[in-house]
Amino acid sequence: MTESLLLPLVRGVASKAADALIETVTRMCGLDDDRRTLERHLLAVECKLANAEERSETNGYVKSWMKELKSIAYEADDVLDDIPYEALRRQSKIGNSTTRKVLGYIRRHSPLLFRFEMSRKLKNVLKKINKLVKEMNTFDLESSVRKERQHPWRQTHSKLDDTKEIFGRDDDKKVVVKLLLNQQDQRNVQVLPIFGMGGLGKTTLAKMVYNDQQIQKHFHLKMWHCVSDNFNVIALLKSIIELAGNKRCDMPDTIELLRKQLEEVIGQNRFMLMLDDVWNENERMWEDDLKPLLCSVGGPGSIIVVTTRRHKVASIMQTLRPLKLECLSVQDSWELFAHKAFSNGVEEQAELVSIGRRIVNKCGGGCFLLSRQ
Ligand SMILES: Nc1ncnc2c1ncn2[C@@H]1O[C@H](COP(=O)(O)OP(=O)(O)OP(=O)(O)O)[C@@H](O)[C@H]1O
Ligand SMILES: [Mg+2]
Repeated sequence: MTESLLLPLVRGVASKAADALIETVTRMCGLDDDRRTLERHLLAVECKLANAEERSETNGYVKSWMKELKSIAYEADDVLDDIPYEALRRQSKIGNSTTRKVLGYIRRHSPLLFRFEMSRKLKNVLKKINKLVKEMNTFDLESSVRKERQHPWRQTHSKLDDTKEIFGRDDDKKVVVKLLLNQQDQRNVQVLPIFGMGGLGKTTLAKMVYNDQQIQKHFHLKMWHCVSDNFNVIALLKSIIELAGNKRCDMPDTIELLRKQLEEVIGQNRFMLMLDDVWNENERMWEDDLKPLLCSVGGPGSIIVVTTRRHKVASIMQTLRPLKLECLSVQDSWELFAHKAFSNGVEEQAELVSIGRRIVNKCGGGCFLLSRQ
């Protein structure tokens, strides 16, 4: 990941720090001041990041600060993930009402140890962020206007790095790749949604497809845009123009001008656009605003792949039958779990294996949960 992808990372961690469940847990444990400070610091960093990035091109000190920021942002992300999941892990149990179980656990079981550990981790990461913010304040960076927050340029996704080991999903990948290649004679842009519950591996599968050799050869232009809750026509158009043209788009926020620019940068290229993590359930916004713009450009065989948790989003956007992602098989789940649990010199003792097998069964193929154990 280049430092330019730090913006979505920092933004993601900042919004995780503001997450309602995390807030409730930290409040119950008396750690909410720390959580809020962390959130504030991340927002402060986020505002200055665009300018820091420009500076880093000529200033080695700022560049190394950004490297440090990247590693601390990942650390903060892990700590925030651990807050609810540590409670679940101890209970080794998960069901439909995650929030109730997390809170129930904290109420029933000794909250002291949990609190102690969370407090230690949170304070540790906070100390590091404090130091980074102090350093940042000496750089005299300019803040980006709020608009910048909503229309990040060069937006992409950290999941594009190919370093993580993936378990299972080869068959799913084959199905998707074949389907995409088979659209080559379609004159209209086709839309394939991949849907399924959170943490199942939709983005991971999309990444596997995106990085596939045949896909690389087949599409002239590949773009990845993480949408999340920003389903805004102008922001999306600008981002796609930037991704296609590989340079910043400073055009005015006028749909007509952006449409022309989009046609120009995409031309007759066969493109694949990944719209990751879409939540928009407003059919008109897709049908009336975005679809006519995105589906009227590009050469035959162009494709938009959408990942979403929501079936409704999939049915609104689909032109191809949506792919419902299923849980990993028990064997693949076990391999993923064992890879995480026993990779750091932890011995595969019979007792640990038996506990692990039980956890795997309870997690029911949820990759996020398995990969956090
Ligand atoms: N098959 C797999 N093998 C190994 N790790 C996996 C696999 N699938 C997912 N993961 C890991 O599980 C986590 C969640 O996966 P991912 O982000 O792809 O889920 P998602 O379905 O896109 O979730 P969300 O709905 O929150 O966007 C990630 O850390 C990912 O690396
Ligand atoms: Mg995802």
